[in-house]
Amino acid sequence: MRPPPGCCKRILPFNSAVQPRQESLRRGGARASYALMAATDSANTSGLSATNLTRDYPTRAEPLRILRGVNLSLARGDALAVTGPSGSGKSTLLHIFGALDRPTGGEVLINGRNPFALPEPELAAFRNREIGFVFQEHYLLPQCSVLENVLIPTIVAPDAGAAVAERARMLLDRVGLARRLDHRPAELSGGERQRVAIVRALINRPTLLLCDEPTGNLDRVTARSVADVILEMAKAENATLIVVTHSAELAARLPKRMELEEGKLEPAK
Ligand SMILES: Nc1ncnc2c1ncn2[C@@H]1O[C@H](COP(=O)(O)OP(=O)(O)OP(=O)(O)O)[C@@H](O)[C@H]1O
Ligand SMILES: [Mg+2]
Repeated sequence: MRPPPGCCKRILPFNSAVQPRQESLRRGGARASYALMAATDSANTSGLSATNLTRDYPTRAEPLRILRGVNLSLARGDALAVTGPSGSGKSTLLHIFGALDRPTGGEVLINGRNPFALPEPELAAFRNREIGFVFQEHYLLPQCSVLENVLIPTIVAPDAGAAVAERARMLLDRVGLARRLDHRPAELSGGERQRVAIVRALINRPTLLLCDEPTGNLDRVTARSVADVILEMAKAENATLIVVTHSAELAARLPKRMELEEGKLEPAK
């Protein structure tokens, strides 16, 4: 089952969630090298690596340096929690890992590829294929059903067809929503909506799953069950998982934990 045409046309509310970062990416695109060779330099490495990442935001005075040399190496299937004070740059870092925002300096490799070396259309395809996002807000389209929402990231793959609808049903079954396929988001609880968002993030079999405060809007019990789903599904899909959270309880459930403080990632204390 494919999303109805009206549903696709009204995709904007979801995309607008990432629009500001994509806009800044487009502006930076002029600086990007269009040499595809650079994107495949170390294509044998699977996982995520970041080397000396910096990110400045311009201000009227001197630039605000949010990231000050972040280094990270995760193998495929690793799971990492990132904590840190509000404003320390956790979302900024996650958006760079997700190729939604461009670093000021340094390098990111996802499965050995530097996404920022790709021209924009290929970068968008790369992001859609390799990376799944779960945000604090679910950003489901209210006018689309649960199944349609999950299928939205597959719209750009013309040959997806029945197999992908079958996968969507299977994943929704796995998160306990098999009987809610035709329901609209307004008919779901907060935890159920977040489960749909997780399935949507995984529908294209991304190798990297990035979650920014995925349980931030949920009560403790629901947060725990949503965390169960994230951890189980990332493992089942062998996706590399990064969860940004203020919750010590959630962070403690991930095997690796780092803290972003003063612009650098350090092992969590
Ligand atoms: N587009 C922007 N222009 C200028 N400053 C920005 C921009 N985006 C973020 N910042 C600043 O960068 C800093 C880090 O923001 P970020 O959203 O990454 O923090 P965070 O660690 O995710 O915080 P929180 O835990 O509250 O979500 C903040 O001081 C923020 O004001
Ligand atoms: Mg944040």
